[in-house]
Amino acid sequence: MKTLVVGANGKIGRILCRLAAEGNKPVRALLRDPEQQAYFHSIGVETALGDLEGAFEASLEGCDRVVFTAGSGGKTGGDKTLLIDLYGAIRVIEACEARDIEQVVMVSAMNVELPLAGPPAMRHYFVAKKLADERLRASSVAHTILRPGLLSDEPATGKVRTDAAAGKGYKVSRENVALCILASLDHPESRGQTIDLLDGDDPIATLFAQTSQH
Ligand SMILES: NC(=O)c1ccc[n+]([C@@H]2O[C@H](COP(=O)([O-])OP(=O)(O)OC[C@H]3O[C@@H](n4cnc5c(N)ncnc54)[C@H](OP(=O)(O)O)[C@@H]3O)[C@@H](O)[C@H]2O)c1
Repeated sequence: MKTLVVGANGKIGRILCRLAAEGNKPVRALLRDPEQQAYFHSIGVETALGDLEGAFEASLEGCDRVVFTAGSGGKTGGDKTLLIDLYGAIRVIEACEARDIEQVVMVSAMNVELPLAGPPAMRHYFVAKKLADERLRASSVAHTILRPGLLSDEPATGKVRTDAAAGKGYKVSRENVALCILASLDHPESRGQTIDLLDGDDPIATLFAQTSQH
């Protein structure tokens, strides 16, 4: 079982690829710059070159599952949010449908279901994430949608909460998110679920025993 990581050179993507390599779980990193390849090869992760604004479909060859953790980032304009977070995600979902990919794990974001309730500067981003999630739910591909709160670079605690009201704070460690992605891939029970993620007290190992289907 090989997993294509879309957005592999991002902060979550790099942690995810490292953890997967350490756990002997086969992943392929989708990169858009050849200079990014050396790092991944040094940790034993194979790579493919592709761009969500161009061709990437060949990178899916031989993969069974896909993690989408790409994003245009906060330093680009709304045009890139549309092209990457929305249309890039939709194109990946369509490519997965065409190839009978077994599971897609989507890194979305908390609170995207009500874009107009978000801060004005974030509303277009929430719309992009919400519509990408809806396209994935309507797709023929089994999927897990993970919705982190504010991402931090703190090391993993191995513990999260999935109910914002069940604890304090609105942050989640990127490393905890990466561990949740791996857990989603390991547990078929994760399929069909939309799961909010914040740092908390529940061991990630028990995540799928505690979440309910949305
Ligand atoms: N920041 C937050 O608090 C927050 C909260 C919830 C959810 N999220 C979401 O979490 C996800 C991952 O976050 P992160 O911090 O790991 O993001 P990140 O470090 O910004 O990584 C994003 C990745 O997407 C890639 N990418 C951008 N445009 C691309 C294109 N045209 N083709 C292929 N790849 C492309 C980037 O490639 P390059 O390395 O080549 O630039 C980068 O590797 C994102 O979807 C983000 O929206 C963020």
